[in-house]
Amino acid sequence: MSVRIIDGKSIAVAIRRRITEAVRKRMTAGLPRPGLAVIQVGDNPASSVYVSHKRRDCTEVGFHSEAYELPLQTSEKELVNLVDRLNKNPAIDGVLVQLPLPGHMDTQAVIERIDPGKDVDGFHPENIGRLLLRLPGIRPCTPYGIMSLLEHTDERLEGKDAIVIGQSNIVGRPMAIELLNARCTPTICHSRTRDLQAKVRSADIVIAAVGREGFIPGTWIKTGAIVIDVGINRNALGKLVGDVDFATACERAAWITPVPGGVGPMTRAALLENTLLAAERHSH
Ligand code: GUN
Repeated sequence: MSVRIIDGKSIAVAIRRRITEAVRKRMTAGLPRPGLAVIQVGDNPASSVYVSHKRRDCTEVGFHSEAYELPLQTSEKELVNLVDRLNKNPAIDGVLVQLPLPGHMDTQAVIERIDPGKDVDGFHPENIGRLLLRLPGIRPCTPYGIMSLLEHTDERLEGKDAIVIGQSNIVGRPMAIELLNARCTPTICHSRTRDLQAKVRSADIVIAAVGREGFIPGTWIKTGAIVIDVGINRNALGKLVGDVDFATACERAAWITPVPGGVGPMTRAALLENTLLAAERHSH
């Protein structure tokens, strides 16, 4: 069996084209550009890279975007005051607070301060609850982007055994719910899981979101499985690699995402989709 690469980069290009077109149609109809505000506190280098990508994406599709770079010492009160202002600002459809926040801030309190209708990360408990209940809402970007990747395989998801390795609020937990909603049978694994190898070996879909190079040996992958690698790790040679040993996994998998060029571009595309959706809801 020969593996097929799920090309997140080119799927994301197609999504951005579709969004650009939707923005053009909105403008023709006299509606405002969708607006995204991105807040970064401090200058974590990884966060700075992500935030600059998000801004570039907004420009490309014709969104209005505002960037707020707050100093590390900013108080939580100042941050939530800014969130409150953006919640009320009609030019802004999406408010994104880049994580992680500095240690003196209560991250959950900040997330819950964002208007759920502007929570384009999909992290607010209201949006997570709506996902769990299969109600329309804003879906967390990485799992949403991964569902789009899975739809680009020619496989029927219904009934498949899926394993999610990682139980974070941002990826693992909402990912398992997305898979359940697609009528897969998801299992969430974490550091206390017994016999991870046996669970990976029996999975039709493997979603790896651990953040450790080579955490999943390719020899564990079941023949014909779909492998989605969320990990972004730098190896000893300074190269970006995922959590799954790519070369050996390719000998067994039917479909696999590369790192880079798999999940990352789709997370960014999902943020644009969420912002457009929020804008459409605000225009009604
Ligand atoms: N930090 C790492 N990933 C994310 C994300 O998807 N959204 C936000 N706001 N911060 C992050």
